[in-house]
Order: sequence, then structure tokens, then C-alpha cells
Amino acid sequence: LERTFSIIKPDATKRNLTGAIAKKFEDAGLRIVASKRIHLTKAQAGEFYKVHSARPFYDELCEFMASGPIVAQVLEGENAIAKNREVMGATNPADAEAGTIRADFAESVGENSVHGSDAPETAKEEIAYFFSGLELVG
Ligand code: GTP
Ligand code: MG
Repeated sequence: LERTFSIIKPDATKRNLTGAIAKKFEDAGLRIVASKRIHLTKAQAGEFYKVHSARPFYDELCEFMASGPIVAQVLEGENAIAKNREVMGATNPADAEAGTIRADFAESVGENSVHGSDAPETAKEEIAYFFSGLELVG
């Protein structure tokens, strides 16, 4: 089984969508093997999203990710990385397929409710940034 890293972003925790989003993961066959609600500082958000540091929206992205609580989770399942990205839908909710998290809940391309790792290497790094091995319970 594969593991991937997920964040329920501040726009979604603010609107009390944590449970509705977790249900979409579970309905897709993904198991939540770790979960915690935390409030990142802007510096911590900046470190997490450093691959995007040259993008014009980087500062806005870091401000947003530090604007309220997030729920960091590890999802486990067959092809978990690809499956999670399928359930999330396209980055821009205007392009996201009906029934996906972003189609149903996202407010804009920036405030798009969820993050999901994009490859095995980034999944491993992102999980380790937020969780110790002891916190992963399959
Ligand atoms: P993540 O799972 O969050 O990494 O989303 P993604 O892989 O679908 O998109 P990408 O990695 O390209 O971008 C990372 C995040 O930056 C997105 O999820 C958005 O929150 C934000 N972002 C991307 N493009 C824009 C943009 O044009 N404007 C703003 N404000 N934010 C953007
Ligand atoms: Mg990405």
C-alpha cells in the first residue's frame, strides 16, 4: 500500500468542512492513518511550499496557509498518491470535475481547500515534515 500526504487548508477548516472532506477520502478507499489540526506560522508554510518560492503567488500562498488552522493527514491505500489527486480535482476549481473536493468546496485557485503530494519522493518528504513514524497507525 502507498502513502500520501494531505492538507485540509484554512479555507476549508474555517467553513467546517473537515468531516465532509475526510468522507470523500474514505469513500475513495483511502485510510486516514495519521491526522492533526495545527496552525502554521508563515515561515513554516514558506518552508513547506519552498518549491514554489519563485512563483508570483508564493507570498500570497504562504499568508493563506498561515491564516488559520489546517488538518495535516497521511492517507494510505492502493495508488494513494494518484487516487488522492483524483479525489481532489484540478488545482483551479473552475476546471475540477464534478464530485471532486475542489469542485464541491474550493473557493478559488489559491483557496482550493486541499493539498496532496504529487509524487512518491515528495510524499515521503512531506509526511516526514509533519509526522514521526510513531504517529502513523495503519
Ligand atoms: P497542491 O496540492 O496544494 O500542491 O496543489 P496542486 O499540486 O494542484 O497545485 P500546485 O502545486 O501547482 O500549486 C500549489 C498551490 O499554490 C495550489 O494548490 C494553490 O493553493 C496555489 N496556487 C497555484 N496557482 C495559483 C495562482 O495562480 N494563484 C494563487 N493565489 N495561488 C495559486
Ligand atoms: Mg502541488
